[in-house]
Amino acid sequence: MAEREHNLVLLGAPGAGKGTQAKMLSQRLGVPHISTGDILRGAVAAGSELGQQAKGYMDRGELVPDELVIAIARERLQESDCTPGFVLDGFPRTVPQAEALGAVMADLGRKPLLVVNLTVDEDEIVRRLSGRRLCRGCDGIYHIDDEGVEDGGACPNPDCEGELYQRSDDQPEAIRERLAVYRRQTEPLIDYYDERGLLVNVEGQGSPEDIAGRLYTAVAERS
Ligand code: AP5
Repeated sequence: MAEREHNLVLLGAPGAGKGTQAKMLSQRLGVPHISTGDILRGAVAAGSELGQQAKGYMDRGELVPDELVIAIARERLQESDCTPGFVLDGFPRTVPQAEALGAVMADLGRKPLLVVNLTVDEDEIVRRLSGRRLCRGCDGIYHIDDEGVEDGGACPNPDCEGELYQRSDDQPEAIRERLAVYRRQTEPLIDYYDERGLLVNVEGQGSPEDIAGRLYTAVAERS
């Protein structure tokens, strides 16, 4: 699938595995992984004006206002590394964001999107989010049940060994709020993209490698 333009969106509840899968898929396709959550967390860590505006919303598990996130995505999608395509993770999350993305794609003369909806049961989502650990060194995504992952321990990647941490919005109250926000504001995008013939559902349970295989097949079939 080398010379094709792959304009992909990963849709799914918090904890559905969008970040885990987007990292693998973007490497396999040779296109950038664009996570609005990562961009916002980077802005918070840097203490920038954007980060200061976004922090409270993120800690409470609410969405950052559309106008801020749309501006971030629009700017990022115009960068030259997006010419062969991209894997969008966490954007769009509302109907106005989806409409804005459609307008950006039209302005840039890009090929249609393929939107992959990762489906996972709610019990599994809560298990994944409450046990998630991240590495400050390599940005690796782990779970406390993974081999070699311990609180207070180092990254299990032997080339990294960075510090592991838990996201501030992976606390029970923020998880509940994120799931409610997802149901209310993001789930309607499943119908939005289905009605436009752009949606494919992929089962998001099983090993990350099995899911990556299903995801790649779904993308290849539509390319
Ligand atoms: P964001 O960072 O996008 O968070 P999210 O959508 O809540 O998604 P997560 O990162 O929590 O989960 P994921 O689906 O990527 O799962 P992961 O692969 O990590 O957004 C955070 C916040 O930023 C939002 O709440 C909002 O405030 C703001 N924001 C971002 N974008 C925005 C936008 N467009 N508009 C407005 N606000 C925005 O996996 C989760 C865990 O499961 C890990 O521990 C992983 O190891 C494990 N796991 C993964 N796959 C499997 C598997 N197959 N089996 C078992 N475990 C697995």
